[in-house]
Amino acid sequence: MIVYQQEIKAFYLSGKNYCYLMRVDGSGRLQNLHYGTKIPLSDISYLIAQVGDPVSRELVDLNFYANERIFSECGVYGRGDYRSPSIVIERKDGGIMSEFRYVRHTIEDGAPALEGIPHVRCSGQTITIFLRDLCSDAEIELNYTVYDDSDILVRNAKIVNAGKQSFCLRKAFSFCVDLPDNNYKILRMHGAWTRERTPEITDLGHGIVRLQSTCGASSFGIHPFLCLLEQDCREEKGVCYGVQLVYSGNFALTAERNSFGTVRLSGGINDEQFCWEVRSGESFVTPQALLCYSERGLGELSRGYADLIRERIMNPAFAFAPRPIVINNWEATYFNFNNEKICALIDEAAKLGVDTFVLDDGWFGKRDSDSSGLGDWYVNEKKLVGGLTAVIDRCKMNGLKFGLWFEPEMVSPDSDLYRAHPDWAIHKDGIKPIRGRRQLVLDFTRQEVVDYIFRVIADILRSNDISYVKWDMNRFITECYSASLPSYRQGEFMHRYILGVYELADRLTTEFPKVFFEGCASGGGRFDAGMLYYFPQIWTSDDTDGYERTKIQWGTSLCYPLSAMSCHVSACPNHQTGRMTPLSTRGAIASLGASGYELNVSALSDEEKNACKEQITAYRKISDLVLRGDLYRLSDPFSENCFCEMIVSKDKRCAYVVGEQLRAMPLPNTRFVKLVGLAEGKRYLIKELNITASGKTLASVGVALPKLGDYESFIWHIEEVKI
Ligand code: GLA
Repeated sequence: MIVYQQEIKAFYLSGKNYCYLMRVDGSGRLQNLHYGTKIPLSDISYLIAQVGDPVSRELVDLNFYANERIFSECGVYGRGDYRSPSIVIERKDGGIMSEFRYVRHTIEDGAPALEGIPHVRCSGQTITIFLRDLCSDAEIELNYTVYDDSDILVRNAKIVNAGKQSFCLRKAFSFCVDLPDNNYKILRMHGAWTRERTPEITDLGHGIVRLQSTCGASSFGIHPFLCLLEQDCREEKGVCYGVQLVYSGNFALTAERNSFGTVRLSGGINDEQFCWEVRSGESFVTPQALLCYSERGLGELSRGYADLIRERIMNPAFAFAPRPIVINNWEATYFNFNNEKICALIDEAAKLGVDTFVLDDGWFGKRDSDSSGLGDWYVNEKKLVGGLTAVIDRCKMNGLKFGLWFEPEMVSPDSDLYRAHPDWAIHKDGIKPIRGRRQLVLDFTRQEVVDYIFRVIADILRSNDISYVKWDMNRFITECYSASLPSYRQGEFMHRYILGVYELADRLTTEFPKVFFEGCASGGGRFDAGMLYYFPQIWTSDDTDGYERTKIQWGTSLCYPLSAMSCHVSACPNHQTGRMTPLSTRGAIASLGASGYELNVSALSDEEKNACKEQITAYRKISDLVLRGDLYRLSDPFSENCFCEMIVSKDKRCAYVVGEQLRAMPLPNTRFVKLVGLAEGKRYLIKELNITASGKTLASVGVALPKLGDYESFIWHIEEVKI
């Protein structure tokens, strides 16, 4: 709901459990009054008296330090507010100070459809507040979208050049909000290849905490998500504020605690090395930021993000449709395959009950290792006699669908594409390009490159029966420069690159609406809400170890739905860690996402094959919970000796629990896991244990954990029983 109170120039925005209040102050600035628990509309005047007074016009004029006390909705530079600005505009004369004043606003149903960049799809209600810069010809439109059934507030900004001369945007963040200082803690997620999204909670402290990526993608290193937590915030209690970006390129998110009682949250496209020329009459649209308020802990925050992403960001044709259970040949064969091996894999996998065979890297060009072939998207008939048709026919014979791996943004120096167009690879003349995995990145800021790659991939998808595409991206960008951009536009390179990626993803998914796309970047190196707009699931990590995955999936679930996570059962010893974990555990952990297999099934014993078959049958029965249910994280694998998560159906009639003992203990203490998230007043049966209890007892007393060995797991199916 959005209400404007004309007499006091105040805006009341509210969602399911929060409200967001702003007003235009006496000087015309847009000021935040409150972001947090839902308070009555009638209390706006009270808030103005509380928050508004210290920044009255007189005080601002007398003492410019007062500008650092303002709870601003748009941080500016050069006018006495020394916190980090959210918008910086450099005019032709070199001046970079700004001061924005309210002009007007509109309130409309729906959410803005941003062109060329992923965004929330529809519904809700949006207020656009128009501000004018007193120091330049810039105008800003701040968009706020709210939903009655969600705790997510969607924000972004559009900067318009209303003057005659160009200006340069040196910083164009998507949002800025100042909160009263509350001695917050901050949660961020860091990582690396095979160690994605590890949560870390520290005190916020004073000064700026800046999370950012500079590699051209949302990255492994730091995730485009942060969360402020009140000191007593836990998994299912306490107040926290989250923010994540619907963006896949270089980002920055900052939390700044100053000495005057404010904490500024802001973020968007990384402003380091960024500069965007906005000509007269042109505008620049920033990506959307998803702000989430929870007063029931991190769990509620995660469930809010999960619902928004699957209901309003993912492609609706796939968001809630059963996900294909795949067998992928990568860890089974790597590059070393031929018809015989692939057919054997297909035949065996079909017997287990999978839906789709995915042919991974190595099927095209001269691609027998990672040193050649990328960019040559035509089948290597020496390796696969009869081409893709032979493989697809084999799949069909077995009742399977077929999926294919691409790495559209890349080129190998040893490839026909590179020999024909060496200038299409990102480079700077005179500087030897750094290779990553022996490959170079194509310059997706160039339209002809995007057009070419679209054409070749579209040809393959048109002429073959392909129902699934895995879109990989195995290195980050260096020598960030495009020969097609003038020198003064090189600061646009990184954002233009990701716009090129979005364009290709958009054209391919639009032209082939029935093809299911999975994202990937050496695992989870570009796992973000922007990519999920095009690809309903992303390969979570190249690390499929039955223990490491509990941590990676736990972290990822903080701000994404389970269905976004592609999770495979792979061989033991694990190829990344060398660890042995039971097949049942690997299957149980993979069932907490879009499940599949990635191992040489022919090498499995009959007993193991039967176990996989049973896992697949069991997974099909709970897959609707994975697609639609609510996640409760019950025991965390970072600080506890047990991992445990539960998915509960929205109507609270059934639930699915997966637990894993990490290290076995001699004479272990009896430990209980509290099944928080069921309906207190209902009675439930835990089928595997054959016990019944009320939701209240299961949540408050809990269930004794079974005594298990290293990395052994348990699964409980829970159902409501009528009293
Ligand atoms: C990346 C992916 C893997 C696999 C290989 C192929 O590492 O994450 O799943 O596709 O590339 O080269």
